[in-house]
Amino acid sequence: MKIKQDLFANKSKNWDINSMRVRNAKEIADIILKNIYMDKDMILADFGAGTGLLTYFVAPNVGKIVAIDDSRSMLDEFIAKRDEFACDTDVIHGDIMDCDEDIKYDGIVSSMTMHHVENTKELFLKLFNMVNVGGFVAMADLDIEDGSFHSDNKGVFHFGFDREMLEGIAKEVGFSDIRFETANVIEKPHCQFSVFAMTARK
Ligand SMILES: C[S@@+](CC[C@H](N)C(=O)[O-])C[C@H]1O[C@@H](n2cnc3c(N)ncnc32)[C@H](O)[C@@H]1O
Repeated sequence: MKIKQDLFANKSKNWDINSMRVRNAKEIADIILKNIYMDKDMILADFGAGTGLLTYFVAPNVGKIVAIDDSRSMLDEFIAKRDEFACDTDVIHGDIMDCDEDIKYDGIVSSMTMHHVENTKELFLKLFNMVNVGGFVAMADLDIEDGSFHSDNKGVFHFGFDREMLEGIAKEVGFSDIRFETANVIEKPHCQFSVFAMTARK
């Protein structure tokens, strides 16, 4: 796999100290778990797992979560916390777009990562090809924003997403049972940012 510059190298150490991020991951996990049946026989992937905030909250419900991330520094934090996750874990260091499609998951979860991938249709097709028939994706990210969510927009390809546009793409690549719910509203001093959770089935 080709590895890009680690855009999170300066953020990874302190990532979990931000309580807003932890709360956001918990809210996203709660919505996913409310809408998707999970059990201990399941193997999931966490796309853009980072330090494992979402993995942590989903872990008690599944057998294994594979953290896929192209940031070495974020995965180092994930690995350091491995004993805290209530399921088996594995890590794949690399770009999701380079992942082997022969390895299929029962579901793929993701929080706040889709906006880092330029071509959303190619991403959805990739995710579709990485889940078993009957499997799910549960993806959370920002609704359309004005570009002020991140203090530095390097590596940010989308200022949030339009839900209808995403639904159209998800249908086009073959997903069904596509649903959206608001998972959280992040309060920043200058503005509020809503976060959706999209679930869909293969
Ligand atoms: C904003 S962070 C979110 C981390 C974590 N999901 C959370 O909610 O705290 C985005 C993560 O996605 C990873 N990422 C971005 N683009 C990626 C790609 N194409 N393939 C794999 N990981 C990617 C980044 O390295 C980073 O760890």
